[in-house]
Amino acid sequence: MAAVPIPHQAMIRTDWELIDLLTGYQPAAVITTAHRIGLFGALRPTPRSGEELAGELDLDHSNLVALLKALVGLGLVEKTGTGYAATPYTQKRLGSERDMGLVVAKEAVFASAWARLGEVMVTGRPVMETWSVMLETHPEQARAFLEALDVLARIGGPRVEELDIFQPGLKVLDVGGGLGTYARRMAQAGAAVTLVDYPKVAAWAEEELSGSGVQVIGVDLFDHPSCGVAPDSMDLALVSHLVHDLTEARAVDLLGRVWRSLIPGGRVVVNDFAGESGPGAFGPLFDLMMRVETGGAAHSHKTLESMLAHAGFVEPVRMPYEDPLTVYVAIRPGNSEDVAS
Ligand SMILES: C[S@@+](CC[C@H](N)C(=O)[O-])C[C@H]1O[C@@H](n2cnc3c(N)ncnc32)[C@H](O)[C@@H]1O
Repeated sequence: MAAVPIPHQAMIRTDWELIDLLTGYQPAAVITTAHRIGLFGALRPTPRSGEELAGELDLDHSNLVALLKALVGLGLVEKTGTGYAATPYTQKRLGSERDMGLVVAKEAVFASAWARLGEVMVTGRPVMETWSVMLETHPEQARAFLEALDVLARIGGPRVEELDIFQPGLKVLDVGGGLGTYARRMAQAGAAVTLVDYPKVAAWAEEELSGSGVQVIGVDLFDHPSCGVAPDSMDLALVSHLVHDLTEARAVDLLGRVWRSLIPGGRVVVNDFAGESGPGAFGPLFDLMMRVETGGAAHSHKTLESMLAHAGFVEPVRMPYEDPLTVYVAIRPGNSEDVAS
């Protein structure tokens, strides 16, 4: 069997290239700190002096100016004669809109988990508490994480409603749909969408999706044989960024429940990141991230296909999205006569 090629960035050949990689934590710390201390909210398109900013944010003036200079070097702040101004991007995406601030905050949480990667190597277990526990112990952090995923889905997620298997009028199940980014789009495109997620997340999704026409059901997917909906009832099911949170055996179990929710001939769409995805080391790093955070993995294309087959799906086809987007469509075989009336 041919080995699966592991993507890599250009081979490191010099000490300075290695040092560049090693010090990658520094720009990340500058950006996450600037976000946490409220600097992006305090900067304006017109310059403000370091003194004024330090006074407003109650910070050490000299160290704040050092941080501002680093942000100038990183392309997020502009220095003019009289002070420091937000660039148009910073003003929009890190200032007035909350979008990228949510993503920055998410990465700050995960950076502290990554600092414990060595533990994961020894124990074989993630360092973060399980998602269902986090929903109870740190609900604000859990919701902020889902809001960041909403941003990421909006800026880079696949447009499921544009796939040729999608049609208005389809009954669609969004499995582990989070705050409903995909569900909303599919409902806007004319589908009758049901989103299922843990009860706490479902309550948040209900707020977010009010008026969208999406039906929301709170359920632990592993407590229900067909994901909280009637068996043989859905034309299409989306499983987006959930399989990578699970071990192979759990993912097959989940996909089996999705299979039962579908009509014979119905389709599942799995949206994920495969372990061998590029660009560069994206897939392997995403895989490590799952091992640090969830105990899941970025499964390979081959494993994704075999999981679908073990759950009873046939004809898995990878949709032609560029890496790292990994979207499979597969069919629950049969036709409507196969369902007992
Ligand atoms: C990584 S998020 C993905 C959210 C969304 N589908 C997306 O692609 O952005 C995984 C979602 O699956 C839900 N989930 C995970 N395990 C679940 C379970 N056992 N029962 C119900 N929902 C679950 C989580 O609450 C979360 O909303």
